Amino acid sequence: MKTESIRVREARATEIAAIAEAMAESFRQYGGAFKQNPDWALETLRRDPGTTAAHTHVVTVDGRIASGLHVFERRLRAGAGVARAGCIGNVFTRPAWRGRGLIRKLLAFSHAWMARRKFDFAFLFGNPKVYGGSGYRIVPAWKATIHFESKCFDPIARQVRVRAVRWESDVSFLQTCYAFSNRGGWGGAVRNREYWSDWLRHRQTPHGSKWVPRFTICVVQIQGNTAGYFLVAPDRKTVVEVAARDQASWKPVLAAVARHALRQRKVALNFWSPEWERRWAAIFPRSEDLEKQSPLRIELAEQYGGMVRLLRRSPTFPHRVIGSDALADFLRAQGFLFWSGTDNF
Ligand SMILES: CC(C)(COP(=O)(O)OP(=O)(O)OC[C@H]1O[C@@H](n2cnc3c(N)ncnc32)[C@H](O)[C@@H]1OP(=O)(O)O)[C@@H](O)C(=O)NCCC(=O)NCCS
Repeated sequence: MKTESIRVREARATEIAAIAEAMAESFRQYGGAFKQNPDWALETLRRDPGTTAAHTHVVTVDGRIASGLHVFERRLRAGAGVARAGCIGNVFTRPAWRGRGLIRKLLAFSHAWMARRKFDFAFLFGNPKVYGGSGYRIVPAWKATIHFESKCFDPIARQVRVRAVRWESDVSFLQTCYAFSNRGGWGGAVRNREYWSDWLRHRQTPHGSKWVPRFTICVVQIQGNTAGYFLVAPDRKTVVEVAARDQASWKPVLAAVARHALRQRKVALNFWSPEWERRWAAIFPRSEDLEKQSPLRIELAEQYGGMVRLLRRSPTFPHRVIGSDALADFLRAQGFLFWSGTDNF
């Protein structure tokens, strides 16, 4: 009987279109999912700053592409420092080759590849049954629904204006707000100009690929000055990201978010951390008078926040973080917040 030749390696630039086709074939079972179109994968790779063909890893069986994945290289905020994360996406095995351990082999290759390049940890969104055996652990995240019980936010909310983003002139302002609002936190991608104008702009602009999920950036102004921004998901109800230019600007920005929610008197935030609890409480303080209604009621729910795998004993983490369980616990304790509506890969 002839034995198959199975190889695991980096992709070559000339193979990328064929890999995108194989990936589309693999995702087709999900029906309407956008990954079922090869254009989607190609467009995403084109827009990913710093990506090369070598960031795509493949398994070949007798010379044919059977499985693949892509390492989206990101620097994620890690308190005062920065962690190097390999965000793994575009994972597939073509239907004919499934259930034979190819993804497990491919992940092992990618982990060694990332560890050699001094990545600190790998991060992905996927089924724990597929990735648990390769060492991934879930990081829980939070989402919040804020119910506005009274109209006490009206005075400031009446003064704020919201306008659409102007890409030609707003990028520096967006960068400033994002840097200010995420400093000291854990999880947010470090976004340079290129990242804003290629990766994020593409996800927002109507000129972008129709396969990339879109969101709307609302720029908040007060008395003619820009204060911050918030991003609304395609459902127009869920806010996926909020940032202010400086401390004083939180008030108008959150008031604008509240106003966005005025009709339904509630707003869904696809993120939460103790920091956000403090920000809202500072702006909409609870009345000490028991007779008076509190202006806000915040309902929290845990949600799936992705999975992590430690790649090396990194100086980015405390000594006790010696494995993926400890890493997941540590990140949870830090209020790890990955902006999944925008940075998602
Ligand atoms: C998910 C997928 C990539 C798995 O590829 P594969 O080569 O068959 O995976 P492997 O045989 O290497 O199995 C890896 C692990 O996943 C588990 N697994 C594989 N398919 C699974 C499934 N459909 N449901 C649950 N677990 C599954 C295996 O039991 C194995 O677990 P272990 O490591 O603990 O032993 C493949 O089925 C696929 O391409 N699906 C469609 C696209 C997709 O969903 N991609 C993942 C996006 S996050």
